[in-house]
Amino acid sequence: MRLLFLGDVTGEIGLKALSLSLRKIREEEKIDFVVVNGENASSGKGLKHKDFKTLIEAGTDCVTLGNHYAGKEESARYIAYEEKLLKPYNAVSYPGEGTRIYNVNGKTLRVTAVLGRAFIKEEAVDPYPLFTSLLNNGASTDYHFVDFHAESTSEKALFANFYDGRVSCVIGTHTHVQTNDARLLPKGTAFMSDAGLCGYAEGIIGFEVRSTIEKVVLGHEGPFRIPSSGEAHINGAIVEMSSFLPSSIKPFSRSVYVE
Ligand SMILES: [Fe+2]
Ligand SMILES: [Fe+2]
Repeated sequence: MRLLFLGDVTGEIGLKALSLSLRKIREEEKIDFVVVNGENASSGKGLKHKDFKTLIEAGTDCVTLGNHYAGKEESARYIAYEEKLLKPYNAVSYPGEGTRIYNVNGKTLRVTAVLGRAFIKEEAVDPYPLFTSLLNNGASTDYHFVDFHAESTSEKALFANFYDGRVSCVIGTHTHVQTNDARLLPKGTAFMSDAGLCGYAEGIIGFEVRSTIEKVVLGHEGPFRIPSSGEAHINGAIVEMSSFLPSSIKPFSRSVYVE
């Protein structure tokens, strides 16, 4: 089983980049299942239903959300019936599911989205009691993949090491910068602090440099802009699993020009 995980898809350019290249990547890399973090897909914050559908049509099997889980009002309505969409499991008061089991070539894969709490203002309860209870009481599966969405690298590493050997893989999202630390932990869980960005390559975490300067440095009103064309990066990792604990995890990165 080869799982491709891709980090935060940011804006239309990120969606277009995946629509242009994800099917081809699946084929070239012999990928069995694709998980994509889609929390920034709709103009940088949240996920509209139409953009969720674009991710699925592009070749995604499961979309995870992060701290912007409630970034678009409509998400609370459609998340309840979209089986390929996960909110953070510890965003307990929000509708939808935070963990689901998928069938992949006769094997069962659980995917769980979890939200960190350091430097994150959106509501999420302590993930540890909740996640331990899931491991102790939930249905066991052939594989278990976790997207741990958090600002702090230490919070991500702590979670992965605490559950080392009890989940197949923990990959972080949220910072939009791919880290160079993909590895198998001592008890066999694959880990990487951050998958990185799927979006505008020349910007600041996916946003146009000028609009970021105008807003943050010069104090102008208005949104952070995301260019709709230009060079895009598709960042993530490929995890190889023939049993519950993976044999390898490798960072993945590809450039795509979006017209
Ligand atoms: Fe985020
Ligand atoms: Fe993000």
